[in-house]
Amino acid sequence: MTPATGQPYVWTHKHLLGLDYLSAQDIRFLLNTARGLADVSTRSVKKVPALRGRVVVNLFFESSTRTRASFTLAAERLTADVLDFTVQGSSVSKGETLRDTARNIEAMGVDVIVCRHPLSGATHQLAQSVKCSVVNAGDGQHEHPTQGLLDLYTLAQRLGRMETFDFTGITVAIVGDVAHSRVARSNIHGLRKLGGKVILVGPATLLPRGFADMGCELSNNLDEVLPRVDAVNMLRVQFERLTSQAFPSVREYATFFGLTTQRLRQAKPGLVVMHPGPINRGIEMDSAVADGAQSAVLSQVTNGLAVRMATLFLVVGAQGAAPAQA
Ligand code: NCD
Repeated sequence: MTPATGQPYVWTHKHLLGLDYLSAQDIRFLLNTARGLADVSTRSVKKVPALRGRVVVNLFFESSTRTRASFTLAAERLTADVLDFTVQGSSVSKGETLRDTARNIEAMGVDVIVCRHPLSGATHQLAQSVKCSVVNAGDGQHEHPTQGLLDLYTLAQRLGRMETFDFTGITVAIVGDVAHSRVARSNIHGLRKLGGKVILVGPATLLPRGFADMGCELSNNLDEVLPRVDAVNMLRVQFERLTSQAFPSVREYATFFGLTTQRLRQAKPGLVVMHPGPINRGIEMDSAVADGAQSAVLSQVTNGLAVRMATLFLVVGAQGAAPAQA
């Protein structure tokens, strides 16, 4: 890819902290790199030596199943060594703990720290405290960039946009608990940068008006929005982050915002259904929808591997490049 300046494109990001900090060209370059690496997972020997001798550490201060497993497998497929750290407990609320923990880990000779943390901005702080690369695996309600990237990849795959990763003319509804969702924020940045339109749908209590400033349309009516969109990204209701009652009852939430088979009939025939997981079946969507032909949920998981391989590969490659950028 060559930008307008005529200079060849070079990836310069030593860290991946959010899609907000990447250009459209960076995102497309990463997705194309993922596309090139996807094939490794289909071979009988699922390994390439791209990161042989490198060390990737998973430093998770919050529970995770698929994201951590995905990063571990991605690192292993690049032949990196992987170390798993899980930190549970109240001491993590002190930023100092994060820095100390990370610096101690880094002292063992680490190339990449993949960090998930309950505080928004924690991975930025980490990136300033260590010399190695930092990849954000979800920080509070801020960003979850690799989830945003795997959603973009899956969408492009389903909508026939893999050649360009250009979403011009595509509208995506992000539905549900937008307020607490780092997945929503990363998706909004990514989709908008690649030319897509975003409609945020949810109860008013979970849909802060400020999101309109990010260039999104806001709606409280899924039935009205559904016929207008090419894809839906159904967010998990983040019960663990709700500090007050955001809707009268779970049943009422499901009635207005749950994706049911019946509701799907109002949508465009090729509607792509996504969910970052874990799904609250019967709340965000019915099992028949989650497991149905239009569901891209398992493709999202598969594509997550390629996207994380590309991420690790690119951030390590940028370690020698100056200046290192967030
Ligand atoms: C998401 C997360 O942790 O932010 N899940 C994930 O990474 N698979 C979304 C969620 O927990 O709802």
